[in-house]
Amino acid sequence: MTVIKVRKNGPLLVTGADVTLVDAQGKAYPVHGPTIALCRCGSSANKPFCDGAHNGAGFVASATAPD
Ligand code: FES
Repeated sequence: MTVIKVRKNGPLLVTGADVTLVDAQGKAYPVHGPTIALCRCGSSANKPFCDGAHNGAGFVASATAPD
């Protein structure tokens, strides 16, 4: 099972045994480890991955699943 977790004011954490991240040209990114963090603030210097820049950028977002 693949799980995508929204971190409060941070990245999307994608965890799963068979996750493949592919760019717009169809080339797969090397993915290390069982979890990847995808930037959703736009400030990462290592997009599409989160590099922690959201902390300094003051990124604030609310994302909650509806009932
Ligand atoms: S969400 Fe972490 S750098 Fe953008």
